[in-house]
Amino acid sequence: MTWQTIILGAGAAGMMCAAHSGPQTLLLDHAKAPGEKIRISGGGRCNFTNLYAGPENFLSQNPHFCKSALSRYSQWDFIELVQKHRIAYHEKTLGQLFCDHSAKDIIQMLLAEMHDAGAELWLNTSIDSVRKTESGFEVKVSRDGKAQTLSCQNLVLATGGKSIPKMGATGLAYDIATQFDLSIIPTHAGLVPFTFPEGRFKPLAGLAHAIRATTDDVSFDEALLFTHRGLSGPAMLQISNYWQESQPIRLNLFPDVPLLETLKARRKTDGRKQIGTVLAQLMPARLAEFLLDGLDVKGNLADQSDAALQSLCEALLSWQVTPSGTEGYRTAEVTLGGIDTDALSSKTMEAKTVSGLYAIGEAVDVTGWLGGYNFQWAWSSGHAAGTAI
Ligand code: FDA
Repeated sequence: MTWQTIILGAGAAGMMCAAHSGPQTLLLDHAKAPGEKIRISGGGRCNFTNLYAGPENFLSQNPHFCKSALSRYSQWDFIELVQKHRIAYHEKTLGQLFCDHSAKDIIQMLLAEMHDAGAELWLNTSIDSVRKTESGFEVKVSRDGKAQTLSCQNLVLATGGKSIPKMGATGLAYDIATQFDLSIIPTHAGLVPFTFPEGRFKPLAGLAHAIRATTDDVSFDEALLFTHRGLSGPAMLQISNYWQESQPIRLNLFPDVPLLETLKARRKTDGRKQIGTVLAQLMPARLAEFLLDGLDVKGNLADQSDAALQSLCEALLSWQVTPSGTEGYRTAEVTLGGIDTDALSSKTMEAKTVSGLYAIGEAVDVTGWLGGYNFQWAWSSGHAAGTAI
């Protein structure tokens, strides 16, 4: 069977591409349903974009690469599409837009757009091999236990990254890119919780606190969540994109409180109170107790000298923690690295050296922050390739 375009991967980027690449498009996926990551994203409500999305919210060896696609299909274009389909949505925080009802609304919207564009979707289809031919590509697949050979002029790699293999993530896009001599920026897990030596934060598991997490010169002001295995929550997921192995992370536990001034003032009014009691009024009591135990700080507030308060503040405003690692691809929301952007046109996502071969979405070395940015990249890059085809 001959197609104009075959898209490998019916995730966010693949479906967006199929909605624009015209009739004679076939979308292939080994999963039994399209857009599975959309379905589970944002706690089932899909944080589908961010009002403030811009190139500065993305990591890549070439930070300029994402600019063209993001500007030609921006968050405003996607919001317009969501409005056209009458999907109710709201801003949760920090410009993050979520569906009011269900992430499935976004999947239905993309399926409707693909249907209107005349694209065909084959699920439960395994991709066995890909080969370049004189006129395009030959793709061997197995479907319903039957092997088939398909041919196409354009082949789009949209099989995403390696995150959450249990959901069917594979490195297929990287393998095919490598087969065509496109280089790959080494991949690792991003937007991922940190692990620490067993039991380190166990007494605090389940507790959340607003912090500023900093590594090198990047900081995020968001929530920290203690887990049985270590540290998670939006602040830590964000910082994980920038973290290098064995590097310490600084946690400011009072990013919005002038702590030293507050404690000195409270020393005048509440001097007879235990330091732990006063701190527990400014942060979760269990966390205050845990930290004071570690710092061996005891006694009434009135007992604390200026110097003692100063060093306590330094400890709480710059608490250094060094993770032993991350939870890896098992729970990572994204994969950092991927198909080298040097190999692709930033306007069309087409490989510079292989005519008709495109790569989009998470498979490419462009990774967004937490907060709807990764889906925006999927929409923008999918649109760039789809309209170029
Ligand atoms: P995506 O992974 O969506 O799609 C790839 C498709 O290829 C899948 O359908 C897969 O089955 C298929 N495939 C893979 N290997 C194959 C093979 N060998 N053969 C055939 N098919 C194959 N982002 C965001 O902006 N807001 C959010 O709220 C969230 N939330 C979120 C929660 C969780 C739990 C995760 C894991 C991730 C998120 N993300 C997110 C990230 C977001 O889901 C991700 O960046 C996009 O889905 C990437 O879109 P792609 O289309 O590139 O890959």
